[in-house]
Amino acid sequence: MRILSGVQPTGKLHIGNYFGAIRQFVALQRDPANECYYFVADMHAITTIKDGRELRENSFMVAADFIALGLDPARSVLYRQSDVPEVAELAWMLSTVTPMGLLQRGHSYKDKVAKGITPNHGLFAYPVLMAADILIVRADRVPVGKDQKQHLEMTRDIAVAFNQIYGDELLRVPEELILPEVAVVPGVDGQKMSKSYGNTLEIFAPEAELKKRVMSIVTDSTPVADPKPTRGNTLYALLKVFTPAGQWAGSKKLFTEGGTGYGEMKKKLLGLILDTFREARTRREQLEQDHSYVEGVLRDGSERAREVISKVMTDCRRVCGLGWV
Ligand code: ADP
Ligand code: TRP
Repeated sequence: MRILSGVQPTGKLHIGNYFGAIRQFVALQRDPANECYYFVADMHAITTIKDGRELRENSFMVAADFIALGLDPARSVLYRQSDVPEVAELAWMLSTVTPMGLLQRGHSYKDKVAKGITPNHGLFAYPVLMAADILIVRADRVPVGKDQKQHLEMTRDIAVAFNQIYGDELLRVPEELILPEVAVVPGVDGQKMSKSYGNTLEIFAPEAELKKRVMSIVTDSTPVADPKPTRGNTLYALLKVFTPAGQWAGSKKLFTEGGTGYGEMKKKLLGLILDTFREARTRREQLEQDHSYVEGVLRDGSERAREVISKVMTDCRRVCGLGWV
């Protein structure tokens, strides 16, 4: 099974990224039957980040974060999207079979515009570039958070459209892999945790900063002695994400029985976050001092990725009638 996924380097990785995506990436690479490709989606990120130095730094950080969180360059191919420029070429070919209506229905684009981001063509065509990322390695499965479901549907539609025009088996039609139990991790304000909403708990933030963020989680004014609501309660949802399944009944009682204040629960959550990421945080500090190692991993990864995509690109250029074949 060929697995592929990417994360945009638009900011520091947060626990939503971990539970929605990276934890699955790490688990998938452990199965020897899988061939995993994971990349830093920097060409996607220029749709919103216009400072080159910032983007380059972010890309490095995300790559180092990936490695610290357990993505193993010996088991997975790790690369930076812009080191594989063929992706942009395939995106152009795909864009010529993508109906405008398909992109106009995109939730992610509509949400971004509604949030006040000035739309540009890149943002509008984002799903086409994402389709190219996936189709170029002939991925079977794409592990993502629930919010990416529509992008995967669009990828399938685009692949089918291309195959209908140019030949049935050319592009492999992929499927998403979504973990239902941690569909969407909420941020400190209760909305979906997202770098673009400024409501994240960063995995590698210094301890004092992380503490401040956890303490800022929005809660209601239920008195300490009373049972606390569980539905729509951000702190409850976050504790559930971090508590091992076997211990959840005990933690749940903190809410349903009353007597425990939100402050105490927040301290518990902070402890769980630090425990969960202790090893990764240490490894991340080491990688910060070793830029050349991280760069080497990315360079090697892009070379390996370009080997597998060369056949797909040759096929696509041939059927479209582009270049020498
Ligand atoms: P962000 O919304 O912070 O910019 P990205 O869009 O870069 O995050 O998402 C990277 C990966 O993490 C995607 O697979 C996405 O589905 C997943 N992800 C992001 N935020 C969450 C969340 N709050 N809950 C679950 N998964 C998430
Ligand atoms: N759009 C994805 C996100 O915002 C990131 C991404 C880009 C991606 N290309 C991809 C994810 C290809 C999976 C496969 O999270």
